[in-house]
Amino acid sequence: MNNSMQDANYRPVDPAEIKDNLIRLISSDWMLVTAGTKEKFNTMTANWGGMGYLWHRPVVFVFVRPERYTYGFIEAASGFTLTFFDKKYRKALNLCGTKSGRDCDKVKETGLTPVFTDLGYPAFTEASLVLECRKLYASQLDRDHFLDQEPVKSHYNTRDGLHKVYIAGIEKAWTR
Ligand SMILES: Cc1cc2nc3c(=O)[nH]c(=O)nc-3n(C[C@H](O)[C@H](O)[C@H](O)COP(=O)(O)O)c2cc1C
Repeated sequence: MNNSMQDANYRPVDPAEIKDNLIRLISSDWMLVTAGTKEKFNTMTANWGGMGYLWHRPVVFVFVRPERYTYGFIEAASGFTLTFFDKKYRKALNLCGTKSGRDCDKVKETGLTPVFTDLGYPAFTEASLVLECRKLYASQLDRDHFLDQEPVKSHYNTRDGLHKVYIAGIEKAWTR
């Protein structure tokens, strides 16, 4: 049982030193957004979002629809993790992006191994990169604020709500 990131052989890395192309990493390789406590947490696949620099610190921004089970965990917590995986975990990421934690136990079904960061946020030891992110700002996207209605027409013509954007500071980044 890995009780900490150090036990799981992770070492901290400066977010500015992450070598991967982040657009490719997020859009093609996908990521897991995971939030909750040791007692109860949930994870989902995401490939909308980004990383950058804001308010004099490295930040991530992710977009989560209120219908996701993970949404409630993100809302209740002070932060979440973003985890990135090698191609061999694609099946696990597919499952976490097509099934809801309301209906299944994603840890059991994927075989991913939970580990908890210094801030107590859930992550998975199979990840090659873990970002420990503390929420700084959240806002529901608003149809009226789109300057071009094309993304609204192409992405929000369903009964599902618009995404909520979370901007979160990267408190620590971990790699091996
Ligand atoms: C490749 C991929 C990317 C996704 N990106 C997002 C995203 O950025 N935001 C979002 O709200 N849902 C996204 N989803 C959908 C959720 O992962 C999916 O609805 C999931 O089943 C939610 O699980 P939950 O109900 O356990 O939270 C994505 C799904 C896939 C397969």
